[in-house]
Formats: sequence, C-alpha cells, structure tokens
Amino acid sequence: MLDKNKYYKVEIIDYTYDGLGVGKVDNFPIFVSNAVMGEILIVEITNLKKNLAFGKIVEIINGVKERVEPKCKYYGECGGCHLMHMSYQEQLRFKTNHVKETLKRIGGVDTKINSCVGMEHPYNYRNKLIIPFADNKAGLYKKGTHDIIDIEECHILNREGLDIIKFIKKLPVSKLIRNVLIRNSYYKDQFMLVIISRMEIKLDDLSEILKEFPNIVSIINNINNEKTNVILGKKSKVLYGEDFYVDYLLENVYKINHKSFYQINSEQTEKLYKKAIESVSLKNKVVVDAYSGIGSIGLSFAKNAKRVYGIEVVEAAVESARENAKNNEVDNIEFYLGKAEDVISNIISNEVDVVITDPPRKGCGEAFLQSLIDNNIDDIVYISCNVSTLARDIKFLNDYYDVIEVTPFDMFPQTFHVECCAVLKRKCDD
Ligand SMILES: C[S@@+](CC[C@H](N)C(=O)[O-])C[C@H]1O[C@@H](n2cnc3c(N)ncnc32)[C@H](O)[C@@H]1O
Repeated sequence: MLDKNKYYKVEIIDYTYDGLGVGKVDNFPIFVSNAVMGEILIVEITNLKKNLAFGKIVEIINGVKERVEPKCKYYGECGGCHLMHMSYQEQLRFKTNHVKETLKRIGGVDTKINSCVGMEHPYNYRNKLIIPFADNKAGLYKKGTHDIIDIEECHILNREGLDIIKFIKKLPVSKLIRNVLIRNSYYKDQFMLVIISRMEIKLDDLSEILKEFPNIVSIINNINNEKTNVILGKKSKVLYGEDFYVDYLLENVYKINHKSFYQINSEQTEKLYKKAIESVSLKNKVVVDAYSGIGSIGLSFAKNAKRVYGIEVVEAAVESARENAKNNEVDNIEFYLGKAEDVISNIISNEVDVVITDPPRKGCGEAFLQSLIDNNIDDIVYISCNVSTLARDIKFLNDYYDVIEVTPFDMFPQTFHVECCAVLKRKCDD
C-alpha cells in the first residue's frame, strides 16, 4: 500500500481517457498529471483512494522527446487545455489509441481505426468561446473551480477574439456582465457577441467596441439573473446588426444565429465532412441527417444524393437550416423540428438508404438506433464527439452492422477531446 505525500519512482506506461499518465507501483495504479508516456519520474502521491492514487511530478529521471514546453503561461492552472506538455504528434497518438481502446473495451469492436487527423497549426482554432466575467476579471476557469483566471493570452481562442474580450473588460459596463459568448467566422471577417448580463444593457454602453472592431456584425444582449450555472437566460435582444453572422463550409454559405450549434473548429469540420461524404455512395440515395443543427451536414451531402431529411430539436436551428437551404439553392432537402428519436420513425418509412447521425455527447440512445435496425438501413455514418457513447451505441448495433472503419479527427487540439467518424454497413442476412 502506498502513502499519501510520499515519493515513488514510476514509469509512465499508458494514459487515462483525459490524458493523465498511468504508472504502477507494486501493481497499484497511479495517475500522474502532465506526464508523458515512457518517462521515468519521481512522483508525490497527492490523493490516495482504495484502488488508485493521483500524483504529481517531483522530478523527471528519464525524459522523452515527446515532452515539450507548453506554449501558454496559464497551462496547468487553467482548465481549458490538458495536453499542451505533449508534442503534437504525441497528442495525436494518444487520441488514436484512446479511440481504439475505448471501441474495443466498451463497443466490443476490433476494427480499422485510422490515425487521428491533425491540424497543420493546432492553435487559435476555436470559433466560439464562452468567457466568464467577474470581479474585474475575464478569462477561463481555474482547473476544477469557478475562479476566473484574468487571461492575457489564450492559444486556442481566435487572436482578435481575445483582443475584443480585453477591450470589453475595460468598459464600465463590464461590471454588469456575467459571460460573453464570442463567435467568429473562419472564411469571413465577422464576429458575433452575445453579452450575458444580470440586467439589460444599452448599445451606447458598447459603442466604443464597434469603433475599434468594425468587423463585429452582431451584438446580442441576453439577460440572465438566475442563480444558476446555465449560461444563457431566456430573454435576448439584438442590440446591433441581426441575430446572425455568416460563414462558409465546403461550398455552402451559412447564416448562424446565437442559439444554434456550430462546429467550433472550421478547418477540421471540413475534413470531417469530406470524409463522411466519401465514406458512402450517395447517388440516387435517400439520406437522413439526424441531429442536423443549422443543416451543414445535410446541405454538404445534398448535391450527391437524391433527397435529404434533416431532424433537429432547436427551433432556431431548424429555421436557419431552412433558410440556408434556400440561400444555397438546394431544393432536395427538408428539415423536421423535433427529437430525432421521435421523428425518425415517420421519415424512415420513405425508403431511407443512409443515415448520418451527429448527436450531442450523450449519444443516440436505443429508440433511435432500434429504428435504424428495424428499417434495414444499409449505411450509417456516425459522427461523435464522445467516443464512450459512440462505443456504447456501436455495441447496440453490433448484431446487425459491421464497423467498416473509424477515423478520429482532432477537432479540439491541446485538449483530451476527440471527434470520430464511424462508418457502419448492414450485415448480409444469411
Ligand atoms: C453535435 S451537434 C451537431 C449539429 C450539426 N450536425 C453540425 O455538424 O453542426 C448536435 C445537435 O443535436 C441537436 N439535438 C440535441 N438533442 C437532440 C434530439 N434529441 N433530437 C434532435 N436533435 C437534437 C442539438 O441542438 C445540436 O444541434
């Protein structure tokens, strides 16, 4: 048995799902923060549980070349990034292995897992971030707390976005602000600000920002005076411009409103969508885009398919999706408002061949998946931001579908999160 606060020599032989190094002393597992595979370390035990311990590095005895100097001065203190101490190649290796192991352990599948698709410049990629404001500070939360780090630098946020945040912090109105949701387009020079405050604010309070940053095209004031961790309140008012900004993905143009989901890393999203499109034959096929958001997957598929049906639960997103279809002159697509698990059974009777599904972190759930099984869907492309629920759902489909391949995409560099595109094919009936 180990002792708390004592030092032990540990070799890092694996990683946990969230990127902690795993070592063993007399077969007792120790999870070590900021460790890299292959390192031999002196570790202090900081937290001792019945079956495992957590530790921190006291000394690196044998280093490895995969350890790098983190680019950010807040790394370790800030909860935003988890892997900045690893070389980018090591981050990608960690994600590929994590996907492989999780699919085997939870999903029971030992299939072709491609290497995680990375970015050329894995920094400043976020096109959306929520920045909390309090006590004259604006930034990100300290790891595991609600204490704000007053950030001067952030290497995953858009650079100009950070300048806008610093500028807002200096305005007198910042005292009333709880959070700022900042979004920017990748291909156009446009920013949207959603200022979440306890009481209504006026455009006059913010007019300085528009002079300094004329590329802000939309400012929305959302009022949230509830004592809650939910970010957005129920009431919103457009203070400047309209409730949308514009961006492109592949060949289509999108209007994006403040309530709708939009993938946070545009460069990687285009790679992901291209992979999904290439994975299935779409000619003369009827396709369902389940969990369709503002319609970006369905619209990217539509020109190769016979007909596409989108399903989405957020009304504002469905309205945008319909408008996006019109603006891109796509007329073989229809969007349904509702829960995918409820609506799928109405649509699926329309001789659907292919289902693309891109659910939130909790996955699809059994009712939705059972509909795919019962209706003999030939091809499923499952896009997932949570490999554990992807693996669980694949297990549910195992008797009826073969997993052809899974490709991880590094949508969230420097963090332990990973996006996957899984391609499934109906098994032959003999
Ligand atoms: C991961 S996002 C994917 C959005 C879109 N496919 C994209 O690539 O931008 C998941 C979407 O599912 C929607 N959603 C959540 N629960 C749902 C449900 N039960 N039925 C339908 N849509 C749902 C969310 O509003 C969100 O737009």
